[in-house]
Amino acid sequence: AVEEAFRESLPAWFDGVRRPMPWREGGADGRRDPYRVWVSEVMLQQTRVETATPYFERFVEAFPTVAALAAAPQDRVLKLWEGLGYYSRARNLHRAAGVVVAEHGGAVPDTEAAFRALPGVGPYTAAAVLSLAFGRPLAVLDGNVIRVLTRVFAVEADAKAGPTRRALQTLADQLLDTDDPGRFNEAVMELGALLCTPRSPNCPNCPLNGVCAAYAEGAPERYPVTSKA
Ligand code: ADE
Repeated sequence: AVEEAFRESLPAWFDGVRRPMPWREGGADGRRDPYRVWVSEVMLQQTRVETATPYFERFVEAFPTVAALAAAPQDRVLKLWEGLGYYSRARNLHRAAGVVVAEHGGAVPDTEAAFRALPGVGPYTAAAVLSLAFGRPLAVLDGNVIRVLTRVFAVEADAKAGPTRRALQTLADQLLDTDDPGRFNEAVMELGALLCTPRSPNCPNCPLNGVCAAYAEGAPERYPVTSKA
């Protein structure tokens, strides 16, 4: 029943609320541009959608392709990042674009090993870009996903601890709908952003409320549990 809720009720809910975002548009072939997905996921790691959107528009306007980004001087790249903070993200993205041009002919690598080898690319970025742009079956685990999973499964263990994170990643991998991993991942992230919020979650409207242990307990805000030490 839990799997069915994640693979059917959740994506159906997502289709009804899906917000248009400039990196969500597919091209003529219906596919998303992996470069645009990549830029957006790097920006969205520490920045909210509303804040990131105008930066994203300016960035891909200035550097429409990996090759354009790779060829740009670093100070121009950092200038367009100004205000987003965490400048190492921009420096790594710029360096990574150089590697993509030098080693992959300018095409964003579509395998986990090759993409993960790029500067600044961790498990989150790899899972997000490879699932959203290439349909690879990799589950993303970010703060939103962690909140959703710890609530549905009433996880009492410290959500920040390594073993708990690994267990949550395994859980997400098992729940992932391998027929459409990108839609699944964005649906879980969106649920965390729109309904399964840190405070005052909107449980009555949640497509997972029938299978959510925290909702059944009556105190969903209690999760994720983190040790105060
Ligand atoms: N946050 C992180 N990735 C996102 C995405 N693809 N869409 C919306 N919000 C996000």
